[in-house]
Amino acid sequence: MNDVDKHSLEEMNRLIEEIERHNYLYYVKDSPQIPDAEYDRLLRNLEAIENAHPELVRDDSPTRRVGARADEGFNEVEHELPMLSLANAFDKDEVREFHERILRRLEVDQVEYVAEPKLDGLAISLLYENGKLTRGATRGDGRRGEDVTANARSIRSVPLRLRNAPSSSKIEIRGEVLMTRKGFARLNAQQDEAGAKRYVNPRNAAAGSLRQLDPAISAARPLEFFAYGLGLSEGFDLPATHAEVLDAIADLGLRANPERQMVSGFDGLISAYKRLLSLRPNLPYDIDGVVYKVNDLQLQQRMGFVSRAPRWALAHKFPAEEEITTVEAIDVQVGRTGAITPVARLSPVFVGGVTVSNATLHNHQEITRLDVRVGDSVVVRRAGDVIPEVVSVLHDRRPDTSVAYVFPVRCPVCNSDIVLDEGGVIARCSGGLFCIAQVRESIKHFASRRAMDIEGLGSKLVEQLVDNQLISNVADIYTLSAERLLTLDRMGEKSADNLIKSIQRSRSTTLPRFLFALGIPQIGETTAAALATHFGDLDAIMIADEDALVNVQDIGPIVAHNVVEFFAQQHNRDVIGGLIEAGINWPSIERVPADARFKDKTFVLTGSLSGMSRTEAREMLMTLGAKVTSSVSSKTDYVVAGSDPGSKLDKAERLGVQVIDEAEFNELIGGN
Ligand code: IVH
Repeated sequence: MNDVDKHSLEEMNRLIEEIERHNYLYYVKDSPQIPDAEYDRLLRNLEAIENAHPELVRDDSPTRRVGARADEGFNEVEHELPMLSLANAFDKDEVREFHERILRRLEVDQVEYVAEPKLDGLAISLLYENGKLTRGATRGDGRRGEDVTANARSIRSVPLRLRNAPSSSKIEIRGEVLMTRKGFARLNAQQDEAGAKRYVNPRNAAAGSLRQLDPAISAARPLEFFAYGLGLSEGFDLPATHAEVLDAIADLGLRANPERQMVSGFDGLISAYKRLLSLRPNLPYDIDGVVYKVNDLQLQQRMGFVSRAPRWALAHKFPAEEEITTVEAIDVQVGRTGAITPVARLSPVFVGGVTVSNATLHNHQEITRLDVRVGDSVVVRRAGDVIPEVVSVLHDRRPDTSVAYVFPVRCPVCNSDIVLDEGGVIARCSGGLFCIAQVRESIKHFASRRAMDIEGLGSKLVEQLVDNQLISNVADIYTLSAERLLTLDRMGEKSADNLIKSIQRSRSTTLPRFLFALGIPQIGETTAAALATHFGDLDAIMIADEDALVNVQDIGPIVAHNVVEFFAQQHNRDVIGGLIEAGINWPSIERVPADARFKDKTFVLTGSLSGMSRTEAREMLMTLGAKVTSSVSSKTDYVVAGSDPGSKLDKAERLGVQVIDEAEFNELIGGN
């Protein structure tokens, strides 16, 4: 080999090592150190050397993730150690039995477990020989699976080479391949565009993607991998516990799930279950339960197996997020901006932990896409606190007598024409404030907790007030007296008094709350706060034109247009005038000059602060020029942790993001 070749070889090896290090930082540590563009540059440099010296190319090069098509289908592989399944538990009693059986068999009075999310994807085995990925296989029936090495190699979080692997070793990593919810939505949008069939859920999409014969297709699918255990391990010092196995796997450069947790005893299991159940809606991927595993590997061995499942592990399943039921009727609801939302009335069904009898159909296009009809059997999904939705229709169960649904052309409440907005997606009642439904909804929003926070003025009461013509806009709230309230059915003196008091209290508010309460289309709390801090007072916002508005953080041309449009309407100006006259007031916003310490810094707030509410803290930070976001990432500069902080604190600690407590926070914002 001449000097030039030698130099290229060295440079190539150096680049591979560096790219792998960044892969590890990105996928395993979740804390990238270089921007994507820089990473791409490294890859391109490597490619350039490889193109010039094809004879030097290593098959574990990061440029060789995507290989040739498997035209003949997949080969069968035999698992040297069978891939087991898990026993399921659906309630606490079954978990208690599991725990007590373990205590009995092991003759101990306490036992430690690792609790991990049960990832809703598909199991895969990755074999590394002397550190190199040599085989990827599906679980199949547990004994024999399919050789999907080419596709496994295309998953970015599957390293082609282990970090610091013992030289003479055979290590089989087992885990789950899954697709994130975002990736799934993106894939289905692409499928729609291509006129191809949609995938029903992320698990099916992951399975379908891993089994593509063309690795180029697989590579383009957003698949991810989490390791949850070992199969074969030769030439590798096995630690004493499962928790340490997972840590060792992470040291080898694979991703173990960050939500894993060590707990002890029955109570520990149940609290891990509750914790993961509450995290579930906010995780970027689907989980369908918690897996409990005895931590001590020797104890695991003493427990042994029954048929195909270990006695030392249990899957405690969450309530299903999807169920089948039938559509009894399709109605439409009118929102505060007139948006018409079709709703399916369902035969009640228990899903996502509650009984559901209504599900949103989103908009008229969604009805067309689903082709849903009264009488249809449908799949209903309720995930976390998200509004239940109809995800698909089981067309083969459709009764012969069914007729297509016709979207109304007139508002069911005020009979005004229904018009489509420019995008053609949202149907709106054109009745404006003539439509009693819009009036009601705008008043409910105004009074709500995060807006003017008028305690006691809930949905039912607003409806009663509007229907009895005691109020017809939000300014009228401030003309109410206890005597007039008492004319309502079921209104007692005490409640009337309390309501008048809370209406009085709501007169002192903040500008962001007031702006949010007005219900300007697409102005949520964050944008309202941004508007308030940018302009400083209401008059300035009311006269701002679109050019001035797009200078505000996170405001684009459409939102700017909505704001201008809203304040241009005379009836809105009248209502605002009425509110100011009624004595609504807020402290003026000090226009603190942007502070260099806060400019471009991103904060996340978690837990409760004793000195101020989270909303106040957020407004304060924004005034100082900082950004406040709701979730922690490696881009977060500070996490402010109050008392009872949530999982955001764990995440910050894992990512090495700076965490400050309330005292440090006060010091930082000092004086402001
Ligand atoms: S351990 C011996 N851990 O669940 C134990 N499995 O029902 C074998 N799964 O085929 C599996 N998350 O695909 C384990 N944290 C986790 C898991 C998990 C999801 C899947 C896996 C397995 C199935 C068994």
